Amino acid sequence: GRVVALVPAAGQGTRLGEGMPKAFVELRGRTLLQRAVAGLLDSGVVDEVVVIVPADRVGEVRADLPGGVSVVAGGAERTDSVRAGIAAAPDADLLLVHDAARALTPPALIARVVAELRAGREAVVPALPVTDTVKTVDLLGVVVATPERSELRAVQTPQGFDADLLRRAYAGSEEIATDDAGLVERVGATVRTIAGEPLAFKITTPLDLALARALTDPDTN
Ligand code: C5P
Repeated sequence: GRVVALVPAAGQGTRLGEGMPKAFVELRGRTLLQRAVAGLLDSGVVDEVVVIVPADRVGEVRADLPGGVSVVAGGAERTDSVRAGIAAAPDADLLLVHDAARALTPPALIARVVAELRAGREAVVPALPVTDTVKTVDLLGVVVATPERSELRAVQTPQGFDADLLRRAYAGSEEIATDDAGLVERVGATVRTIAGEPLAFKITTPLDLALARALTDPDTN
């Protein structure tokens, strides 16, 4: 089966505060997007990579990435961007969706997700226990509920899917989801978690970027 990795990188990255779309922020001379794509290629289990970037960056990104990587324009929401990526990968048998912002994801995690798909799982997501207690609040910030922490997981990417399942999940919905498995759950599929990796953290805030810079500092590593 042909494995295609979709890399949504069309977010504005306002929470990062670097004044540019997040995927184009540099970490030691390479953008988050370049690092995320390199990790996928290094995993040895991905046949094709499709990156999804802001429409006005398509040309520049094509010039900066390895030859075989496809580049398409994304949309306003992450869901729109992933949808554009799915459309650009009609011959995929297995689809991975991997945030550009998870630039330091170990290639071995990517290989584990694909191995689970090849073993017959239809949807696989890396997950870690949460360390904070998580609460549900109302619009005024008043606590409504406290879910049992031991039952909660923070999920990462790459999330892997049987390609037809992911197509079906996106075809049946105009909804916005913060992860792809969320849409797949709604069509009744079984989503399996596997052990995630702390290094697959999403670079979202200035603190995350400082951590990523420290982790890639040649003087301390
Ligand atoms: O905003 P968030 O951190 O959840 O974004 C996760 C990933 O989705 C990032 O790599 C971001 O560039 C991408 N994204 C996108 N299109 C959007 C919004 C986010 O490709 N409209």
